[in-house]
Amino acid sequence: MIKLVLISGSLRRGSLNSAALRAVRRIIEDMPVDVEVVSLPIGRIPFYDGDVEEAGMTAAVEAARALVADADALVISTPSYNGAVSGVLKNALDWLSRPYGASPLTDKAVAVLSASPGGRGAVDAQPALLTVLRTCGAFVVEHPPVAIGQADQRLDRHGEMTDPEILDALRGLVGATLTAATRPARGGGRRSPLSERLRTVSV
Ligand code: FNR
Repeated sequence: MIKLVLISGSLRRGSLNSAALRAVRRIIEDMPVDVEVVSLPIGRIPFYDGDVEEAGMTAAVEAARALVADADALVISTPSYNGAVSGVLKNALDWLSRPYGASPLTDKAVAVLSASPGGRGAVDAQPALLTVLRTCGAFVVEHPPVAIGQADQRLDRHGEMTDPEILDALRGLVGATLTAATRPARGGGRRSPLSERLRTVSV
C-alpha cells in the first residue's frame, strides 16, 4: 500500500488550498490503486524553538514526524502570503527538517501545488516552497506547475473543487506523485514498483 500525506498551508476553515487537497483525495479514492491518504493538520504545531527541540520534541511535532516518516509521499498545497509560503507551513517544515541529519523529509517525494483567489493561483509562492523542500533534502516531484487561480470562483455549491480543468491538472499531479512514491529508494534500497501495488481491476 502507498501512504500519502496531504498538508494544507492554510488553517482557514474555508481554505482554497484545503479544498484543492480534498479534490486530490477524491481523485485518489476513485483510482484503482491501494493508497492510504491522511491529512496532516499543522495548526497545533508550536513555533519552532531550539530549546523545545532540545528538551525532546512536543507530542504534536512527534506525531507529525511519525506520519511523514511513514509516508511514501507528501502533497503540499500552499497559499501565497506576500510571495512566499504561509508562516504555519514554513514552521511545520522547519520542525520536520529536524533533527539535522535525521529529518523525515530526507528523500521523501513531495508534490507541490497552490491556490488563490487571484489570477496567478499563488504560483509566486511555489519557488520559496521548492527551495525549502530541496534544502531539507526532499525529492521534489516533477510535474507541470499546478496553480489554481480564481479558485474561490471555481468551487461548487458545496465548496468543493469539481471544475474539470482543475481535476485534470490534479490528476496529472497525482500520477506523478504516485510514480515518485514508488521510485527506487536512494542508497540501493528498493521500493516496490507501482505496478505491484495496483489493485487488480476487472474489466
Ligand atoms: C494573502 N493573499 C495573497 N494572495 C496572493 O495572490 N498573493 C499574495 O501575495 C497574498 N498575500 C497575502 C498575505 C496574507 C498575510 C494573507 C492573509 C493573504 C490572499 C490569499 O491568496 C487568500 O487569502 C487565500 O484565500 C489564502 O489561501 P486559503 O486560505 O484560501 O487556502
